[in-house]
Amino acid sequence: MVIEILTLFPEMFSSPLEHSILGKALQKGLLNIKVRNIRDYAFDKHRQVDDRPFGGGSGMLMKPEPLAAAIEAVRKERPGIKVYLLTPQGKLFNQSMARQMASLDSIALVCGRYEGVDDRIRAHWVDGEISIGDYVLSGGEFAALVVIDVIARLIPGVLGDEDSCVEESFSDSLLEYPQYTRPRNFRGFKVPDVLLSGNHEEIRKWRRRESLRRTLERRPDLLDYSELSEEDKRILEELKREKKRIG
Ligand code: ADE
Repeated sequence: MVIEILTLFPEMFSSPLEHSILGKALQKGLLNIKVRNIRDYAFDKHRQVDDRPFGGGSGMLMKPEPLAAAIEAVRKERPGIKVYLLTPQGKLFNQSMARQMASLDSIALVCGRYEGVDDRIRAHWVDGEISIGDYVLSGGEFAALVVIDVIARLIPGVLGDEDSCVEESFSDSLLEYPQYTRPRNFRGFKVPDVLLSGNHEEIRKWRRRESLRRTLERRPDLLDYSELSEEDKRILEELKREKKRIG
């Protein structure tokens, strides 16, 4: 898979892309990331990339010409590429969007800076807009890194054991169950007995129940998207009754 990044701050991508899972994905050639500096597509004398907003107001906007030229260069090299603008006004990024994006051959992530980008770019040059959360970053660079990290984990072969993300949070829209490692007793806080029992069926059941419990307590909204078995639904009813009793 190819990810094109369009940014005014290409240096922001060097270190994060060198390490850990992302670094390995690049090394193995499972992921190819190309970072382009939008300033390289500014062809006026001063290579200007920003300008004042028409109608007044504070701050600077990213000018349309360099952005359009950069996006057009990417589209020319990679026909069919999907181009996304990172902006707090975009669609809220989630695991299912990531899954859909990971299935594509190539995507481009355009990082906005300053107070925003000329709206004609949003309206006519990109295929979609993505927000990573309801807060304002100083630019789309960190957002792009988040998107890349989430997508990379979904590319077959990137994670050591191909199935290791199958059971993780959100893969079936439930939060993860609690996990423990040694020691069994840490300053008086003990690991649940069932996990030490060696009874795989009991462990599986306990984990599913704790996933459901966490999701019900912390993110009940996620239950609407989950594929729940009849057994899951029965456990949820039980957990709700338990909660009412205990208060
Ligand atoms: N740029 C600034 N804030 C952002 C956000 N929350 N998501 C994506 N891009 C952004």
